[in-house]
Amino acid sequence: METKMFKTATTDLAAAAELIKKGQVIAFPTETVYGLGADATKESAVKKVFAAKNRPSDNPLIVTVANVEMVKRFVSEIPAIAEKLIANFWPGSLTIIMRYNEGALSPIVTGGLPTVAFRLPENEVTRQLITLADTPIVGPSANTSGKPSPTTAQHVWHDMHGKIAGIIDDGATAVGVESTVIDITTDVPTILRPGAVTQEALEAVIGAVNSEHRKVGADETPKAPGMKYRHYAPDVPVYMVTPDQWPAAIIWAQQQLEPVGIMATDEIIEANHLAGMDFVWSLGTDVTTANAKLFAGLRYFDERDDVETILVHHFADEGVGLAYNNRLGKASSGQYFDVEM
Ligand code: TXA
Ligand code: MG
Repeated sequence: METKMFKTATTDLAAAAELIKKGQVIAFPTETVYGLGADATKESAVKKVFAAKNRPSDNPLIVTVANVEMVKRFVSEIPAIAEKLIANFWPGSLTIIMRYNEGALSPIVTGGLPTVAFRLPENEVTRQLITLADTPIVGPSANTSGKPSPTTAQHVWHDMHGKIAGIIDDGATAVGVESTVIDITTDVPTILRPGAVTQEALEAVIGAVNSEHRKVGADETPKAPGMKYRHYAPDVPVYMVTPDQWPAAIIWAQQQLEPVGIMATDEIIEANHLAGMDFVWSLGTDVTTANAKLFAGLRYFDERDDVETILVHHFADEGVGLAYNNRLGKASSGQYFDVEM
């Protein structure tokens, strides 16, 4: 299949929306990461998304909408908690899991669950596309299953060219990690995946919130089906480096026979005289810029056949650092750099 590249002009979006209406798959930008879009009400179209991503069929998809009216096509009454979350965080990087009317969505979308994940992105291009297609679209991240989510159209092209009908190029995404996922069907609402909308921000609006992602162990069944699969993983080992460990880690890196990729903040790069060197990927100034640059760096080093190990800066477990450490923890299988290694 020939994959067409689209820009964000209205004529381009209209052409892409036509393809969605015809049951084709189009990769679309959001403010978090790029998604793989297809008509959420057409089983044959949704099946193509699973095939393109090579995604396990029991891992449900997000339904991406352009307005709240589209949610009401599947849900007879929006729960009060959801109303509050919608009023405060939509459009934005928050995905809300709620119950839907029996039979209103294909089990292919929901993995057969009685719940469905809705997301109304901040990115205007996304909303324009959905409005033009006049249908909610499924929107998993547009990567091959198990690889880092794409934050540029080029990342999507790398994983998806030849497999989908088109890609809309809106440049690099601003946030860089996927949306916060909250399940409001539990007694206490539960964060299944941390993102730019933090637990503190959610609690300020709806009161106590649990976070499932902080306690899932290997022997527990994860609440978000996606949590049980290996994620974001380059082919070579990734180690997390706490700020105090960088001097030792850099000495270790220089002693290795094969090049080691280093992903660190500008401060660490400058303090250790690494600026402008090969094998160095800047995460910018702080945890917010690091979220935006993390996946691109992992992909960059994964593509370089010479790099045999990747060392990545670990941030404090607070605020949007939780989203960052969650993704990095998966990419590294939880391994920290250690002078003994
Ligand atoms: O930022 C995002 O959310 C991006 C952009 C493209 O919108 N999308 C995204 O989709 O990250 P995906 O499919 O890669 O991640 C959605 C996560 C998966 O871990 C999935 O298992 C979980 O949400 N999920 C979806 N529906 C669910 C449900 N009904 N119950 C529990 N978890 C669900
Ligand atoms: Mg994903």
